[in-house]
Amino acid sequence: MSEVAVSIRGLKKSFGTRTILDGIDLDIYRGEIMYIIGKSGSGKSVTLKHITALLRPDEGEVRIHGKNIFEMDDKELIEVRKKMGVLFQMAALFDSLTVFENVAFLLRRFTKDDEDTITKKVRERLRLVGLSHVEHLKPADLSGGMQKRVGLARAIALNPEIVLYDEPTTGVDPILAAAVDDLILKLNHELGVTSIVISHDMESVFRVADRVAMLYDGQFRLIGTPDDFRNSQDPVIRQFVEGSAKGPIPIL
Ligand SMILES: Nc1ncnc2c1ncn2[C@@H]1O[C@H](COP(=O)(O)OP(=O)(O)OP(=O)(O)O)[C@@H](O)[C@H]1O
Ligand SMILES: [Mg+2]
Repeated sequence: MSEVAVSIRGLKKSFGTRTILDGIDLDIYRGEIMYIIGKSGSGKSVTLKHITALLRPDEGEVRIHGKNIFEMDDKELIEVRKKMGVLFQMAALFDSLTVFENVAFLLRRFTKDDEDTITKKVRERLRLVGLSHVEHLKPADLSGGMQKRVGLARAIALNPEIVLYDEPTTGVDPILAAAVDDLILKLNHELGVTSIVISHDMESVFRVADRVAMLYDGQFRLIGTPDDFRNSQDPVIRQFVEGSAKGPIPIL
């Protein structure tokens, strides 16, 4: 069995009286592409925010490469966050900076790289996401899809070992969604990163995922391969995979 990159154990989180995560466990292996799926409001983003220690749990732990992030001091946390690239749902670019400067931002902040090295690294990342020709433009001059790709180039600027994507294909057209899927696969293969993708796009799941974990009612209902999901007889899984309004999953 290969090495565990991210290990979640007994994670519990409530907001007021509402329990969102009710003791979830998940191991994500180095180099794999793990999808976390579930309906809107099921706790996918809350899970991602625990993996990046933006939220603290009521109980439980998250280990990144073996170390519990909730027991780290600020310095250790900064180090571990540098190993994680996050593509936020909204690209969250700096509007006043050029594409080049957006991607260079973390390199300037967290490395001692000289200007030549920064230029080399930024161009390399932009090439990887297919955006070599727009480095002097501002985000407002780009299409939504291009902005997403700049967000991705920025997320991988520091050569992270783990890349997290929060709904990378939500709200984009089908062609762009397929291009984003290809990019997730390419980055996974070329950089050898561990990828955690939050999604409710089942097409993307079946195209890209090595394994899938589905959140339902505060628990992982099923953790398995895309085929396990395709073949599941669990009515909750069936309804989600088929995208049907009829079934045990309440709409609201
Ligand atoms: N900081 C917070 N304070 C209070 N409630 C919160 C907070 N963050 C999330 N929640 C609640 O937790 C639940 C799960 O939210 P989360 O953002 O994880 O959903 P999600 O699965 O990512 O949904 P979507 O697919 O719509 O993005 C929601 O009901 C949300 O309102
Ligand atoms: Mg979300």
